[in-house]
Order: sequence, then C-alpha cells, then structure tokens
Amino acid sequence: MPKASPKFIEALNEALTEELASVIQYLWDHILARGLESPAISDMFKELSMIEMKHAYAIAERVDLLGGVPTTAVGPIKVGGDLREMVDTNLKLEYDAIEMYKKLVKTAEAEDDPVSRRLMEDILGETEEHANKLETVLGK
Ligand SMILES: [Fe+2]
Ligand SMILES: [Fe+2]
Repeated sequence: MPKASPKFIEALNEALTEELASVIQYLWDHILARGLESPAISDMFKELSMIEMKHAYAIAERVDLLGGVPTTAVGPIKVGGDLREMVDTNLKLEYDAIEMYKKLVKTAEAEDDPVSRRLMEDILGETEEHANKLETVLGK
C-alpha cells in the first residue's frame, strides 16, 4: 500500500471538509431556491450536490486507503438569499476549490503518489466545469 505523509493526509482531509460543505450548500440552495428562474437553477444545484458527494466519497476512500482517518468535519456553509447570491456564493467556493486542487495535484506529485494525483486532477477538471456552469448562469 502507498504511504502518505501526515501532511498530505491532512491536506486531503481539508479537501474533504470543503466537499462536505459543498454537498450541503448546494442541496440546501436546491431546496431554498425561489423565483422565476428557480426551476432550472434549483435542478442544477441538486445535480452539483450529487457530484460533490461523489468527490467527498472518493477523497474519504483515498484517505482511508492511505492509512488516515477520513474527517467528519464540515467546512463553512452559506446558503440562501436570492438566486444570484446563491450562484455567487457557490461560484466563490468553486474558485477556492480550483486553487486547492491545483495545489493538491502538486502535493500528490511530491508524495510520489500518481493515483492520488490522478484523482486530484479528475476532481479539478469537474470543479472547473462547475465554475463554468455557474459563470454561464451569471452571463460571464
Ligand atoms: Fe467538489
Ligand atoms: Fe464543485
């Protein structure tokens, strides 16, 4: 089994707290969304929440395999407001996640752990897609 440094396990657990927060944030915004354009955006929030769940699951599994204990800590959550505020808040979280995963790709590389590196790259790719979806909604 590959070995991971405590620092890398800690960084993966930090990503896990962010993913767990995203699961809840998107799911609650899905429930709370109101307004003329809410049906489409509400559906999108639910869809994104499910993908964040997949990210959380994959990272938790990886932490376990590397000999660490997957955290149950959940990062800061901000839900509600009008639809634009919801999209803005989630977009900020996605931007932060992009920076985090770029760093994690490098850390995994430094750990000589190609499987974790590929996982970080895959999640980074989907995170960029999420940001792009939200930017499209905002007309960016
Ligand atoms: Fe994610
Ligand atoms: Fe995301």
